Amino acid sequence: MAFLRNSWYCAAWSEEVGRSLLQRTILNESVLLFRQTDGAIKAICNLCPHKLAPLNLGELVGDSVQCGYHGLQFDGSGRCTHNPYRRETDADAKLKTYAVHEQDSIVWIWMGAGTPDLAKIPCHDHLSSPSRRTIRGNERMEASYRLMLDNLMDLSHAQFLHKVMSATDAFDGPRNQVRQQGDSVWSTFRYPFGKAQYLFRRHLPDPDADVTQELTSRWDPASSIFNEISVFVGDEPPFTTIGTRGSHIITPSTETSCWYFFAASRNYALDDAAVDDEFRTWQASAIRGQDIPMVEAIQRAPSDFAVLPSRIAISADAGGTLTSRLLDRMIEAEQESLDPQDVLASV
Ligand code: FES
Ligand SMILES: [Fe+2]
Repeated sequence: MAFLRNSWYCAAWSEEVGRSLLQRTILNESVLLFRQTDGAIKAICNLCPHKLAPLNLGELVGDSVQCGYHGLQFDGSGRCTHNPYRRETDADAKLKTYAVHEQDSIVWIWMGAGTPDLAKIPCHDHLSSPSRRTIRGNERMEASYRLMLDNLMDLSHAQFLHKVMSATDAFDGPRNQVRQQGDSVWSTFRYPFGKAQYLFRRHLPDPDADVTQELTSRWDPASSIFNEISVFVGDEPPFTTIGTRGSHIITPSTETSCWYFFAASRNYALDDAAVDDEFRTWQASAIRGQDIPMVEAIQRAPSDFAVLPSRIAISADAGGTLTSRLLDRMIEAEQESLDPQDVLASV
């Protein structure tokens, strides 16, 4: 499977990268992340050019990483800054580096050989909004990132997979609006006239009132999804609206594994620790306990075509299908324009 290389991926939440060594395998490359003494984050190849010892088994010495095996040191530019076996540093020992950029408390990493374009970083500014409260986490998954994108572009699955906390009596085969805007895909499900889902009910003026609920996902290349779940009370504007904006950013690790970074930023009960716990419970049960096991189970489904049923499509697939088609096209276009060196690096 080819990946889109000239794209920003989430390497970590900001708070995960500090004065220690964090290793993540991203697009099949072992990457080492650390924070310099000036606060800047650096990302370099995690393999020591001497014996390929993983550098995350070493330690930070000032702004250099000291290999835990024989003590060579490398700084954030990939340069060898110290070789204990000779006085001069070894000019040939140069590690690959990656462009990183911290924005909205996300550490973005650019994995391609092309020039990193900051304008292409997906917007997740709800994460740093003072009018929202964010609960977040991450998890490594044994499944292709493409399966998880599919899951997140069709939020109607919440009615069944997350029924205890997220089902609504307004679900009746919802109309799904899908549109492409530039390189992004929007997918919206709307459920008018039903009881609000469990997470929001007790925060409404009348928990038993009929409300309209809207579930929207926005995909940005290569694998970032912003979503918004809104509950509208009233027939005419101005509505009372409560809900969450979510970040669901999937970073391919290998062809069959990925990192899932998830966050929910609510616009109500900002100082209520009990509501924080509700969201942690939701993330533990719905994301860790339902989405991830379901998608990993699909990954493990037999690949023997002789035993597979004929595949069918439903209308709720539209957002995921368009996303998949656009991503395929982008990958193909990149493959055609890559020079042979880059093609080799991507296989
Ligand atoms: S393997 Fe790193 S210094 Fe020897
Ligand atoms: Fe889900």
